[in-house]
Amino acid sequence: MKNKGDYYFETIILLNLLKRSNMEEFDYSKLKYCGKDVRIAGSVVIKYPELASIGNHVAIDEFCYITTALEIGDYVHIAPFCSIIGGKSACCVLRDFSGLAAGCRIICGSDDYLGSGLTNPTVPDAYHADLHIEPVILEKHALLGTNCVVYPGVILSEGATVGTCSLVTKSLAPWQVYFGIPARPYKERERRKILEMETKLRKEIG
Ligand SMILES: CC(C)(COP(=O)(O)OP(=O)(O)OC[C@H]1O[C@@H](n2cnc3c(N)ncnc32)[C@H](O)[C@@H]1OP(=O)(O)O)[C@@H](O)C(=O)NCCC(=O)NCCS
Repeated sequence: MKNKGDYYFETIILLNLLKRSNMEEFDYSKLKYCGKDVRIAGSVVIKYPELASIGNHVAIDEFCYITTALEIGDYVHIAPFCSIIGGKSACCVLRDFSGLAAGCRIICGSDDYLGSGLTNPTVPDAYHADLHIEPVILEKHALLGTNCVVYPGVILSEGATVGTCSLVTKSLAPWQVYFGIPARPYKERERRKILEMETKLRKEIG
């Protein structure tokens, strides 16, 4: 059981992490491409910045952890505590106006959990399980609600949205709302106003 001292030290660690994230600037110079109006918190880890292209008007919030190649369009938001994992040969694509709410986990590459070999990166290649690596793509206006998990190879078609705490195992149809474990269609999403607003914003701001 935790005692008062444990809570005290955990609080100090958390405060230090927060302080670090506010003090340290993210190093934008290492990114493959970085557009205008991009804000990445100092605590964000992008393991292979040379494989990351980021468009205009993008925000990546505190404590996100990204180990894949990355292609991000314009007006994309990644909220705090998201992870996008799979390693250097995996890839995640987030097109214009797409987004991840806090705590999402996107798995672009995974060990085989069914038994083709040993697992995890500490094991030498010759003993290692087959890897399942396939890009995850969020097309324009696709959104993941808080704490969703997405499997390798999933494509969220244009305008698809997913409710909080869902597990997305298969690709999703355009402009449909989904939720659940696994995610199932719930209702159609209104697209006309979203697309009109996009056209207006692009004309006025770019
Ligand atoms: C999926 C979603 C869009 C549905 O919204 P809604 O139509 O207003 O849904 P309601 O609250 O009326 O719920 C309808 C039913 O679906 C269920 N439900 C809603 N979201 C659910 C979810 N994520 N998982 C499981 N069940 C869900 C409700 O319990 C309710 O069930 P009932 O009819 O048996 O009572 C919304 O619940 C959601 O998850 N939004 C994402 C919010 C988010 O993560 N925002 C991020 C910060 S911006």
